[in-house]
Amino acid sequence: MKRLGVNIDHIATLRNARGEFHPDPVIAARLAKKMGADSITIHLREDRRHIKDFDAKKICSIKNLLINLEISINPKIVSIALKIKPNFICLVPENRNEVTTEGGLNLKKNKNKIKKIISLFKKNNIRTSLFINPSINDVKISKDLDTDCIEIHTGRLANLVKSKKNYLNELKRIIKCCIFANKLGLEIHAGHGLDYKTTRIISKIKEIKELNIGHFIIGESVFQGLPKVIRNFKEIIKKK
Ligand code: PXP
Repeated sequence: MKRLGVNIDHIATLRNARGEFHPDPVIAARLAKKMGADSITIHLREDRRHIKDFDAKKICSIKNLLINLEISINPKIVSIALKIKPNFICLVPENRNEVTTEGGLNLKKNKNKIKKIISLFKKNNIRTSLFINPSINDVKISKDLDTDCIEIHTGRLANLVKSKKNYLNELKRIIKCCIFANKLGLEIHAGHGLDYKTTRIISKIKEIKELNIGHFIIGESVFQGLPKVIRNFKEIIKKK
Protein backbone atom coordinates (compact mmCIF):
# COMPACT_ATOMS: atom_id res chain seq x y z
CA MET A 1 0.00 0.00 0.00
CA LYS A 2 1.16 3.52 -0.73
CA ARG A 3 2.27 5.62 2.24
CA LEU A 4 0.87 9.05 3.07
CA GLY A 5 3.25 11.80 4.17
CA VAL A 6 1.40 14.76 5.68
CA ASN A 7 3.10 18.10 5.25
CA ILE A 8 2.26 20.33 8.25
CA ASP A 9 4.11 23.50 7.18
CA HIS A 10 0.90 25.49 6.97
CA ILE A 11 -0.02 24.80 10.59
CA ALA A 12 3.10 26.87 11.29
CA THR A 13 2.02 29.46 8.68
CA LEU A 14 -1.22 29.94 10.60
CA ARG A 15 0.53 30.09 13.95
CA ASN A 16 3.04 32.62 12.64
CA ALA A 17 0.24 34.87 11.38
CA ARG A 18 -0.47 35.68 15.04
CA GLY A 19 3.11 35.44 16.25
CA GLU A 20 1.95 33.34 19.19
CA PHE A 21 1.86 29.60 19.87
CA HIS A 22 -1.42 28.35 18.44
CA PRO A 23 -1.92 26.17 16.40
CA ASP A 24 1.14 24.15 17.39
CA PRO A 25 2.77 22.04 14.61
CA VAL A 26 3.99 19.58 17.25
CA ILE A 27 0.39 18.77 18.21
CA ALA A 28 -0.51 18.53 14.52
CA ALA A 29 2.34 16.07 13.92
CA ARG A 30 1.17 13.81 16.76
CA LEU A 31 -2.48 13.99 15.68
CA ALA A 32 -1.65 13.28 12.03
CA LYS A 33 0.30 10.18 13.07
CA LYS A 34 -2.59 9.02 15.27
CA MET A 35 -4.98 9.42 12.35
CA GLY A 36 -2.87 7.27 10.04
CA ALA A 37 -0.20 9.50 8.48
CA ASP A 38 2.78 7.28 7.69
CA SER A 39 5.22 10.18 8.01
CA ILE A 40 5.27 13.90 8.66
CA THR A 41 6.89 16.29 6.22
CA ILE A 42 8.24 19.69 7.20
CA HIS A 43 10.19 22.16 5.09
CA LEU A 44 12.79 24.24 6.93
CA ARG A 45 13.01 27.10 4.45
CA GLU A 46 15.95 29.47 4.35
CA ASP A 47 13.59 32.39 5.15
CA ARG A 48 11.86 30.36 7.93
CA ARG A 49 8.48 31.53 6.67
CA HIS A 50 6.65 28.64 8.34
CA ILE A 51 8.57 25.91 10.21
CA LYS A 52 11.22 27.41 12.53
CA ASP A 53 14.34 25.72 13.86
CA PHE A 54 12.71 25.01 17.24
CA ASP A 55 9.74 23.33 15.50
CA ALA A 56 12.04 21.14 13.43
CA LYS A 57 14.07 20.15 16.52
CA LYS A 58 10.98 19.31 18.59
CA ILE A 59 9.22 17.44 15.78
CA CYS A 60 12.33 15.40 14.95
CA SER A 61 12.66 14.40 18.59
CA ILE A 62 9.14 12.88 18.84
CA LYS A 63 9.50 9.13 19.37
CA ASN A 64 8.02 6.64 16.90
CA LEU A 65 7.27 9.29 14.32
CA LEU A 66 8.93 9.26 10.90
CA ILE A 67 9.99 12.74 9.83
CA ASN A 68 10.78 13.78 6.29
CA LEU A 69 12.66 17.08 6.36
CA GLU A 70 12.68 19.08 3.14
CA ILE A 71 15.70 21.31 2.73
CA SER A 72 17.55 23.27 0.08
CA ILE A 73 21.17 22.53 -0.73
CA ASN A 74 22.33 25.61 1.22
CA PRO A 75 25.27 24.42 3.41
CA LYS A 76 23.89 26.18 6.53
CA ILE A 77 20.57 24.34 6.26
CA VAL A 78 22.31 21.05 5.46
CA SER A 79 24.37 21.42 8.62
CA ILE A 80 21.24 22.11 10.75
CA ALA A 81 19.53 19.06 9.20
CA LEU A 82 22.51 16.86 10.09
CA LYS A 83 22.28 18.03 13.70
CA ILE A 84 18.55 17.49 14.17
CA LYS A 85 18.65 14.08 12.48
CA PRO A 86 15.33 13.56 10.71
CA ASN A 87 14.57 10.04 9.45
CA PHE A 88 14.45 11.22 5.86
CA ILE A 89 15.57 14.26 3.90
CA CYS A 90 14.24 15.51 0.62
CA LEU A 91 16.36 18.04 -1.27
CA VAL A 92 14.27 20.71 -2.97
CA PRO A 93 15.07 23.85 -4.96
CA GLU A 94 14.40 27.10 -3.15
CA ASN A 95 13.78 30.56 -4.39
CA ARG A 96 13.02 33.34 -1.90
CA ASN A 97 10.41 34.94 -4.14
CA GLU A 98 8.33 31.82 -4.76
CA VAL A 99 5.07 31.18 -2.95
CA THR A 100 5.75 27.43 -3.00
CA THR A 101 8.32 25.02 -4.51
CA GLU A 102 7.66 25.73 -8.18
CA GLY A 103 9.62 22.97 -9.86
CA GLY A 104 12.15 20.21 -9.39
CA LEU A 105 15.87 20.57 -8.65
CA ASN A 106 18.32 21.71 -11.31
CA LEU A 107 20.33 18.49 -11.12
CA LYS A 108 22.70 19.28 -13.99
CA LYS A 109 23.83 22.56 -12.44
CA ASN A 110 24.21 21.23 -8.88
CA LYS A 111 25.39 17.67 -9.55
CA ASN A 112 28.57 17.76 -7.46
CA LYS A 113 27.03 19.60 -4.50
CA ILE A 114 24.06 17.24 -4.40
CA LYS A 115 26.24 14.13 -4.65
CA LYS A 116 28.26 15.25 -1.60
CA ILE A 117 25.11 16.08 0.39
CA ILE A 118 23.54 12.70 -0.40
CA SER A 119 26.67 10.89 0.69
CA LEU A 120 26.76 12.87 3.96
CA PHE A 121 23.18 11.98 4.87
CA LYS A 122 23.63 8.36 3.85
CA LYS A 123 26.63 8.09 6.18
CA ASN A 124 24.26 9.28 8.94
CA ASN A 125 21.68 6.60 8.05
CA ILE A 126 19.20 9.18 6.79
CA ARG A 127 17.11 8.21 3.75
CA THR A 128 17.64 10.61 0.87
CA SER A 129 15.24 11.86 -1.78
CA LEU A 130 15.46 14.35 -4.65
CA PHE A 131 12.49 16.47 -5.70
CA ILE A 132 12.58 16.35 -9.50
CA ASN A 133 10.51 17.25 -12.53
CA PRO A 134 9.04 14.31 -14.44
CA SER A 135 11.98 14.03 -16.85
CA ILE A 136 13.76 10.83 -17.89
CA ASN A 137 17.06 12.67 -17.91
CA ASP A 138 16.57 13.83 -14.30
CA VAL A 139 15.74 10.26 -13.28
CA LYS A 140 19.02 9.10 -14.89
CA ILE A 141 21.01 11.81 -13.11
CA SER A 142 19.27 10.97 -9.80
CA LYS A 143 20.44 7.38 -10.15
CA ASP A 144 24.00 8.57 -10.84
CA LEU A 145 23.85 10.73 -7.71
CA ASP A 146 23.09 7.60 -5.65
CA THR A 147 19.91 8.89 -3.99
CA ASP A 148 17.61 6.35 -2.31
CA CYS A 149 14.42 7.92 -3.61
CA ILE A 150 13.06 10.49 -6.03
CA GLU A 151 9.96 12.59 -5.52
CA ILE A 152 8.21 13.55 -8.74
CA HIS A 153 6.82 17.09 -8.82
CA THR A 154 3.10 16.76 -9.62
CA GLY A 155 2.38 20.50 -9.65
CA ARG A 156 1.95 20.79 -13.41
CA LEU A 157 -0.42 17.82 -13.53
CA ALA A 158 -2.42 19.22 -10.62
CA ASN A 159 -2.73 22.64 -12.27
CA LEU A 160 -3.92 21.11 -15.54
CA VAL A 161 -6.54 18.98 -13.76
CA LYS A 162 -7.74 21.90 -11.62
CA SER A 163 -8.07 24.19 -14.64
CA LYS A 164 -9.91 21.43 -16.54
CA LYS A 165 -7.25 21.27 -19.26
CA ASN A 166 -5.95 18.13 -20.95
CA TYR A 167 -3.58 16.51 -18.49
CA LEU A 168 -3.01 13.19 -20.27
CA ASN A 169 0.40 14.06 -21.76
CA GLU A 170 1.69 15.20 -18.38
CA LEU A 171 0.30 12.04 -16.75
CA LYS A 172 2.01 9.90 -19.42
CA ARG A 173 5.28 11.73 -18.76
CA ILE A 174 4.99 10.97 -15.03
CA ILE A 175 4.11 7.30 -15.66
CA LYS A 176 7.09 6.90 -18.03
CA CYS A 177 9.45 8.34 -15.40
CA CYS A 178 8.02 6.10 -12.69
CA ILE A 179 8.43 2.93 -14.77
CA PHE A 180 11.99 3.91 -15.70
CA ALA A 181 12.97 4.89 -12.13
CA ASN A 182 11.50 1.67 -10.79
CA LYS A 183 13.64 -0.33 -13.23
CA LEU A 184 16.69 1.54 -11.96
CA GLY A 185 15.82 0.54 -8.39
CA LEU A 186 14.88 4.00 -7.13
CA GLU A 187 12.01 4.33 -4.65
CA ILE A 188 9.42 6.69 -6.11
CA HIS A 189 7.43 9.35 -4.29
CA ALA A 190 5.20 12.09 -5.66
CA GLY A 191 3.76 15.34 -4.44
CA HIS A 192 2.77 18.94 -4.91
CA GLY A 193 -0.63 20.47 -5.48
CA LEU A 194 -2.47 17.21 -4.80
CA ASP A 195 -6.12 17.27 -3.69
CA TYR A 196 -8.70 14.47 -3.58
CA LYS A 197 -9.17 14.38 -7.36
CA THR A 198 -5.52 14.51 -8.35
CA THR A 199 -4.60 12.00 -5.67
CA ARG A 200 -7.13 9.57 -7.18
CA ILE A 201 -5.42 10.01 -10.56
CA ILE A 202 -1.84 9.74 -9.34
CA SER A 203 -2.59 6.85 -6.96
CA LYS A 204 -3.25 4.60 -9.96
CA ILE A 205 0.50 4.55 -10.66
CA LYS A 206 1.60 1.41 -8.85
CA GLU A 207 5.32 2.29 -8.87
CA ILE A 208 4.68 5.27 -6.54
CA LYS A 209 5.27 4.25 -2.93
CA GLU A 210 4.68 7.53 -1.08
CA LEU A 211 2.62 10.68 -1.57
CA ASN A 212 3.47 13.91 0.24
CA ILE A 213 0.52 16.24 0.59
CA GLY A 214 0.30 19.52 2.48
CA HIS A 215 -1.63 22.57 1.41
CA PHE A 216 -4.89 20.84 0.56
CA ILE A 217 -4.89 18.71 3.71
CA ILE A 218 -4.39 21.69 5.99
CA GLY A 219 -6.81 23.93 4.04
CA GLU A 220 -9.55 21.29 3.88
CA SER A 221 -9.12 20.64 7.60
CA VAL A 222 -10.74 24.03 8.23
CA PHE A 223 -13.96 22.51 6.90
CA GLN A 224 -13.67 18.83 7.76
CA GLY A 225 -11.08 18.60 10.52
CA LEU A 226 -7.59 17.12 10.21
CA PRO A 227 -8.55 13.56 11.31
CA LYS A 228 -11.31 13.28 8.70
CA VAL A 229 -9.19 14.67 5.85
CA ILE A 230 -6.31 12.30 6.63
CA ARG A 231 -8.73 9.36 6.80
CA ASN A 232 -10.18 10.37 3.42
CA PHE A 233 -6.74 10.42 1.81
CA LYS A 234 -5.80 7.07 3.34
CA GLU A 235 -9.01 5.64 1.90
CA ILE A 236 -8.26 7.03 -1.60
CA ILE A 237 -4.72 5.65 -1.53
CA LYS A 238 -5.88 2.27 -0.19
CA LYS A 239 -8.33 1.69 -3.04
CA LYS A 240 -5.61 1.72 -5.68
N1 PXP B 1 6.60 17.55 -1.80
C1 PXP B 1 7.54 18.51 -1.80
C2 PXP B 1 8.95 18.11 -2.07
C3 PXP B 1 7.21 19.86 -1.52
O1 PXP B 1 8.17 20.80 -1.54
C4 PXP B 1 5.88 20.17 -1.22
C5 PXP B 1 5.51 21.59 -0.88
O2 PXP B 1 6.17 22.02 0.25
C6 PXP B 1 4.93 19.13 -1.20
C7 PXP B 1 5.32 17.84 -1.53
C8 PXP B 1 3.52 19.37 -0.82
O3 PXP B 1 2.88 20.23 -1.73
P1 PXP B 1 1.45 20.78 -1.39
O4 PXP B 1 1.58 21.64 -0.18
O5 PXP B 1 1.07 21.54 -2.61
O6 PXP B 1 0.57 19.59 -1.14
